[in-house]
Amino acid sequence: MRKLIVMLFVCLPSLGFASGGGGPMMSANVDVTNTASLQRGAQTFVNYCLSCHSAQYMRYNRLAEDLGLTEDQVMENLNFTGHKIGEQMKIAMTGDDAQRWFGTAIPDLSVIARSRGADWLYTYLMTFYVDESRPFGVNNVRFPDVGMPHVLSELQGVTHAVFHEEVDEHGQTHSTFEEIEILSPGSQTEDEYERTVLDLVNYLVYMGEPAQVYRRSLGVKVLLFLAIFFVFAYMLKREYWRDIH
Ligand code: HEC
Repeated sequence: MRKLIVMLFVCLPSLGFASGGGGPMMSANVDVTNTASLQRGAQTFVNYCLSCHSAQYMRYNRLAEDLGLTEDQVMENLNFTGHKIGEQMKIAMTGDDAQRWFGTAIPDLSVIARSRGADWLYTYLMTFYVDESRPFGVNNVRFPDVGMPHVLSELQGVTHAVFHEEVDEHGQTHSTFEEIEILSPGSQTEDEYERTVLDLVNYLVYMGEPAQVYRRSLGVKVLLFLAIFFVFAYMLKREYWRDIH
């Protein structure tokens, strides 16, 4: 039995890496309490992603509430699909269209941050690179042979991935990812692009659980309450037991 438990723990870390893809994971320091960053992320999301990907579990009026915007601001700046303020972030493309045009189903992004994680998403959006052998002329380090075009290339520019090739003792070549080089710049500098992607990932993390900011602040309040309550409970206990001890 003990052996079995040890085995389970030994195997656990490998499960985490099973999602595949190459190269190191870049880390995204997201902060869902940063409302300005969420607003910028939402802007990028509706402009660049919400044509192919839906976010069916998110409603526009919830965005207004959580991002500190009025409903009019949301309708003007974040809603280009013609849906009403109380509706979800849906798209016009059907599953059949996606299959025909992209050869694959396009996932809804509402809870993508919960399945992939912030670091994965950040690395994915940073590491598209030119690869003429692919249908859209681009490939991705994190998601090899991806079926998605590099929709942010006008911001990031034309990119090249540097791989380090190594031949092992069995004569097999292994290539490890080193870095992304910008061949011709886009409309943003490298720092600006990083910021854009961070804001976008921050927004995706928020969308994965819109109530998380409230949940965390409530959690802190509950713990504070329990700490203060403990003092009174303890004093009361001493009072009750005074004559006995
Ligand atoms: C032109 C259509 C199109 C646009 C625009 C687009 N995507 Fe995609 N995306 C796809 C397709 C197609 C796939 C499926 C790729 C595959 O499975 O090979 C995909 C896959 C993904 C995945 C991987 C999902 C998974 O876990 O399998 C993520 C994450 C993603 N897109 C994020 C984004 C973000 C963020 C944006 C906006 C910056 C965006 N996409 C814009 C077409 C698009």
